Amino acid sequence: MKNFYITTAIDYVNGSPHLGHAYEKVLADVIARFRRLMGDKVFFLTGVDEHGQKVQQSARARGIPPQQFCDEVSAEFRALCVKLDISNDDFIRTTEPRHKTVVRALLQKLFDQGEIYRAEYRGFYSTRQEQFLQDKDRHPDGSWPEIYGEVTEITESNYFFRLSKYQAWLVGFLKENEHFVFPRHRQQQVIEFLAEPLNDLCISRPKERLEWGIPLPFDEGYVTYVWFDALVNYYTAVVDKPEFWPANLHVIGKDILVPPHAVYWPIMLHALGLPPPKQVLAHGWWSINGKKMSKSTGNFVEPAAFADNYGVDALRYFMIREMSIGQDSDFSEAQFHARYNAELANNLGNLVNRVLNMTNRFAAGVIPAPELTVDEMLSEEFKGKYEDEMVLRLSWGLVCTQLIGAYEKFEFHSALASLFGTFAVTNTYIEKRAPWKLGKSTTPADQALLRTSLAMMAESLRIGANLLRPIMPGTADKIFAALGYTPQVTWGPGLDENQKMRMKELEWGTRLTSNKVAESAILFPRTEPKAK
Ligand code: ME8
Ligand code: MG
Repeated sequence: MKNFYITTAIDYVNGSPHLGHAYEKVLADVIARFRRLMGDKVFFLTGVDEHGQKVQQSARARGIPPQQFCDEVSAEFRALCVKLDISNDDFIRTTEPRHKTVVRALLQKLFDQGEIYRAEYRGFYSTRQEQFLQDKDRHPDGSWPEIYGEVTEITESNYFFRLSKYQAWLVGFLKENEHFVFPRHRQQQVIEFLAEPLNDLCISRPKERLEWGIPLPFDEGYVTYVWFDALVNYYTAVVDKPEFWPANLHVIGKDILVPPHAVYWPIMLHALGLPPPKQVLAHGWWSINGKKMSKSTGNFVEPAAFADNYGVDALRYFMIREMSIGQDSDFSEAQFHARYNAELANNLGNLVNRVLNMTNRFAAGVIPAPELTVDEMLSEEFKGKYEDEMVLRLSWGLVCTQLIGAYEKFEFHSALASLFGTFAVTNTYIEKRAPWKLGKSTTPADQALLRTSLAMMAESLRIGANLLRPIMPGTADKIFAALGYTPQVTWGPGLDENQKMRMKELEWGTRLTSNKVAESAILFPRTEPKAK
């Protein structure tokens, strides 16, 4: 069994969870569920980032102590994971003692090694970004870009981590690990960033300015810079499970790739003598109805409310179907409804209901055995007779191979397009075979074809539901239940020595023969756009 350690970013608790947070968790969950189905031993971490200026300010604005504020907002993030059917194995909070202990131990180690020094700092500081700025960060006219908020000039003594010392190492590391960042064009962004000399990283904040943080172990007058604290969460969570380090995949948004995840983090680990993560996946950003997400302009989708209204799997489906990871994407309720009705209700929902309905009408609710095996259908004797069956059988065989490949390459949106294309092929098969006509005939040949077609439709659903498991786990389970079927925990033992798919669960067969099906199943009730 291979270990696979996957994480999401840990979310700032200065506001409630939004669509971007929901998407990232679902994306990581899809990967985690896929790896489990492939037989890996997965450890999946998500959590919240609770220290720093933004949280301290938000707590003050509410007039409550920061810890109480964090407890309240963190509970919302935890509840969102449950609502979205996220299969995380752990949920970390950076205010937990287990985390503070690790951060302090790592800081002390770096300090003892001489990787951290104290120096006088004079310069510009952005509170919003919690970042020191340089002249090169200004607009040509001297003003500061809006993202920095209020910029103040400060002079203070601080602690610095020798980031610059490792610049050459990181450049070499990226050369050797071409796939460190996915997608590829974002790795290029990191390389471009490293074309300029790195500054050492200020990792402390004086307590007079910021109290809400982890005190430095070697100087209690300071707290740890929030990014140094936050990144360490990935290591904290597996400190007692060393078999999971290095992490296989950090799933994050594009805004926190450079410099935190692609520069600070690998260098911090390297300086500590620890191997860097295997890969970082940086997804694009969601806008809403063409505009930047923002609470103040009402451009805000409450993911939990959305899941309540339309079902969690419809939301999961939409986000994964709509976003190609390398690009940004727009969330519009109109587009959501279009996909919901055409793809979920009409295509998949309809297919499930037809299969149940016809099995009940023409086979007393019991899935028949196909009259012939696939090999027999292919034989000379039946030439031409079972062409539609062959098309269906080959389509499902092909899509299994395609999807495993697409899932491995994080091409989930195109995977879903292929899968739903194959559901449509199955619907077409039903129309061509027209069991409602065959059911009226009493000839043994027609009766045999009817039984075969019912078996083939049900088997298509069994395979299709299996392929849906990473993305729409609840829907897959409903389909299995409607077919009276319990799937294996994993798809199978994996690839054989010829690198051919030999995944038992995805093999076309007769596992459903004699199963009693449900009367009906409502997977996607019709909905209309909510009146605003
Ligand atoms: O950055 N679309 O927290 P965060 C897609 N605490 N993803 C989005 C998004 C959007 N509109 N808005 C935000 C932080 N995200 C730090 C991380 S990790 C050690 C510390 C993503 O709450 C964003 O890209 O601002 C990030 O990956 C995650 O949500 C948390 O963002
Ligand atoms: Mg952010």
